[in-house]
Amino acid sequence: MNLLKFLLAACLASGLAAILIYITGVDTLHGSYHLSEEDLEALHSLQSGFRKCVSANGLGLQAASGRDYCEVTMKFPGETVPKWKDPKTGELEGLSYELNLCEAVATWEQVRNSTTVLTKEYIDALPNGWEDYAWRRINKGVLLNQCENRTLCMEKLSLVLPERPPLFPRQYSRCAVIGNSGDLLKTKFGDEIDSYEAVFRENGAPIQNYTEFVGTKSTFRLLNRGSAKALDKVAELYERGKEVLIVKTTIHDIMNKMIREVPILNKVYLMLGASFGSAAKGTGLKALEFALSICDTVDMYGFTVDPGYKEWTRYFSESRQGHTPLQGRAYYQMMECLGLIKIHSPMRADPDRVVKWLPSRSTIIAARIASEKLLRRVGAGSTNLLATCSIIKKQQKGNDVDMSNLRKAAVEHRKYVKGTTMYPLEHNPGHGQLCTVPNKLIVRKLN
Ligand SMILES: *[C@@H]1O[C@H](CO)[C@@H](O)[C@H](O)[C@H]1NC(C)=O
Ligand SMILES: *[C@@H]1O[C@H](CO)[C@@H](O)[C@H](O)[C@H]1NC(C)=O
Ligand SMILES: *[C@@H]1O[C@H](CO)[C@@H](O)[C@H](O)[C@H]1NC(C)=O
Repeated sequence: MNLLKFLLAACLASGLAAILIYITGVDTLHGSYHLSEEDLEALHSLQSGFRKCVSANGLGLQAASGRDYCEVTMKFPGETVPKWKDPKTGELEGLSYELNLCEAVATWEQVRNSTTVLTKEYIDALPNGWEDYAWRRINKGVLLNQCENRTLCMEKLSLVLPERPPLFPRQYSRCAVIGNSGDLLKTKFGDEIDSYEAVFRENGAPIQNYTEFVGTKSTFRLLNRGSAKALDKVAELYERGKEVLIVKTTIHDIMNKMIREVPILNKVYLMLGASFGSAAKGTGLKALEFALSICDTVDMYGFTVDPGYKEWTRYFSESRQGHTPLQGRAYYQMMECLGLIKIHSPMRADPDRVVKWLPSRSTIIAARIASEKLLRRVGAGSTNLLATCSIIKKQQKGNDVDMSNLRKAAVEHRKYVKGTTMYPLEHNPGHGQLCTVPNKLIVRKLN
């Protein structure tokens, strides 16, 4: 009997090799969008706790409730003097910002279970992944004629394209993301930063000559387009080949050439991120997103987030134009009060500082579920693990992950998701995720 079952499963498995399950319009079939009393209670409780949290930790920032359960307005004190001007319009930055807590909770909680490194598996699984997507991640991709010549496309991407995810949710315990703000020179955070399991840095941030302030350790470095083009210089900033470099834009011919010829010994990957709209541009937020997708806890250092902003400074060079300091500060305060990160800054330098009025895990979970329903996200309210996946594809054979080197929390998470890898569908948080599942799981689902 057991043998029979096994044979049946094996047949199914091999027969399924070519099948791509592409579900569309799951909306009405799977989840239920009806908000219950508990859902409303969860959102209410999140928002009222949130207002107290911002008031207690935001150094003058206040959150006021908006028109509905989701909306809050982050307000800076009236005496705040905005200094940053939009270079396009010449307008000074405003003192109040509307944020959507539901959007934030639903999207950020998903980031924590997602893979944010672009893989070949992802492009293969995405419908028309090579024709519609891959070439966009190659600089001057237009000339590639939508990857008509896939060999050529592969050739360009291959240096930064792992077959399957090289990193997993919860792989690291305590992580620190270090921004490049000149504020870093006001506090000697060096030893504290070195106590983290993984340290994330950005662009051309030097370590040498600044170790008292920025520490000596480095695990990952997030790169924008400019830094990626100077890959050889960036690779010299830390011990040869030791940092993993994450490029948030495209692979460039210059970069390709350097990886081959210099050669760059570091691992280099492209980031596959969610989208958080205009509130969240810049390498800093991408670094936080990346860290949240592989760490248990994320602490933030070296961002300009204290009152009294005068100019956009960097700890290692002259001031520069920068972007949206007040909007950034409001957004990071929201992240802290949603329990995603902890802020360390000159005015919040006590390592034992407790963030007051943090939402409990159960509040966040309940609010996340309610938010998904409210936003009509794919799979909202369903208990089926794969309900949030609008594209499901089976993993390649022989791609089993060696879990012997993973932390317990990472192994437990992989068991919880039954080995599924969840990728964001870029710029489309509402339209579900792309999931790749082990063979076994598809068989079970179909049975
Ligand atoms: C596709 O690209 C490869 C690698 O550059 C090249 O050798 C091959 O000739 C190209 N094929 C076509 C049909 O252009
Ligand atoms: C550190 O300081 C020395 C001496 O001033 C200088 O030569 C070197 O370039 C500096 N290193 C970095 C990374 O700034
Ligand atoms: C993420 O995974 C954890 C288990 O590790 C689970 O409890 C949580 O509900 C998941 N979050 C989402 C948004 O699926």
